[in-house]
Amino acid sequence: MKFIVGVSGGIAIYKVVDLVRRFKKRGDEVRVVMTDSATKFVTPELFREISLEPVMTTVFNNEETAAHIKWAQWCDAMIIAPATANVIGKLAAGIADDALTTVAIAMTKPLIIAPAMNKDMFNSAAVTANLSILKQRGVNIIKPSSGELACGVEGVGRLPEPVEIVEQVDKILNADKRLSGYKILVTAGGTREAIDPVRYIGNRSSGKMGYAIAKIAAEYGAEVILVTSSSLEVPPNVKCINVESAEQMRQAVLSEYETVSVVIMAAAVADYRVAEPSKQKIKKSEDTLTLELVKNPDILLELGQRKQKQILIGFAAETQTVEANAIKKLKKKNLDMIVANDVTSEGAGFGVDTNIVTLITSNGATPYPKMSKTEVAEVILNELLSFLLDTPHG
Ligand code: PMT
Repeated sequence: MKFIVGVSGGIAIYKVVDLVRRFKKRGDEVRVVMTDSATKFVTPELFREISLEPVMTTVFNNEETAAHIKWAQWCDAMIIAPATANVIGKLAAGIADDALTTVAIAMTKPLIIAPAMNKDMFNSAAVTANLSILKQRGVNIIKPSSGELACGVEGVGRLPEPVEIVEQVDKILNADKRLSGYKILVTAGGTREAIDPVRYIGNRSSGKMGYAIAKIAAEYGAEVILVTSSSLEVPPNVKCINVESAEQMRQAVLSEYETVSVVIMAAAVADYRVAEPSKQKIKKSEDTLTLELVKNPDILLELGQRKQKQILIGFAAETQTVEANAIKKLKKKNLDMIVANDVTSEGAGFGVDTNIVTLITSNGATPYPKMSKTEVAEVILNELLSFLLDTPHG
């Protein structure tokens, strides 16, 4: 592998000397780019001797022209260690005012950062927010470890040992990308059907199930579109389309349908909407209020009718005769798989972080024990992979 190691100015820099040595020892090629502050801790010569490659400390006066672009294109990944609060802030803000940040901003390959600093700095609102921005953009973050810090206090903020960084880098880069090349649309959350400008009919769906599927699908390398009525944090590398009502969800799903290989509908779509939502806030006058409801379109049914090459996966939120009802939906909506969950069971269904599901296909039903929604997402996507391997879907 070809790595660029970006070194910023922190006391943990001494570990990065060993990190570069370890990469070199196992045959990786390493080029080092240093911030000005980093050169106050160790000299570029040290890294040059260990890496046997040029070390970049400025965007000017390099042997090559546009060296920052060429370096970014040359490598398979860039690792910034230690990543100081300053460098993290600059990356989050898109500031490129030195060699390290200029190479980092030109990176199209995986960018991995290993923050290391005092615990109060690490826990500060600014660093937390900046790391969250970077995570959203798909930057991989190696968590600092806990222990005695350079400033003498105990806490989280230590740069992990070089051997651990190497392990984590390998794990990140070899992560399972078996859904790479597939475009997957996932729906999440409960739709909101307007009663008037301030009220709506909703349901208990939090969006957690759908977001977990979107997250794992993106980690598996798929191009993911999340159509959601929920406002949870969007997982990295996921394109999010926000909707409110069933009709808006239908429009968003249909507009992408032709281009996707797979649709997974975890959303709880309202079956009915208010026939004529009031344009003004309804005043409290009578003792009773009657709302006329009309049927919403069944999005999944429509997708099943229009299906060409797509794999369709639905969910069935049931409260009784779970499997039989789910099988009926599988057939009626022309699905390849349905994920049945008894939403009355403890630890299953709406709002919670776990679910208890049975995966049903034309080959039969497979029940699973209570698992985290992330694990449920993995099970569903692994089952999806067997469909994709059977039939090549573009
Ligand atoms: O969001 P969470 O809090 O994590 O909760 C997860 C969940 C309970 C919402 C999820 O696990 C789940 O069961 N989602 C499906 C909820 C649902 O609407 O089930 P249903 O049996 O009514 O619908 C069957 C399928 O048809 C679903 O895939 C649904 O998205 C789809 N549908 C339903 C009605 C409709 N008008 N259009 C649809 O496309």
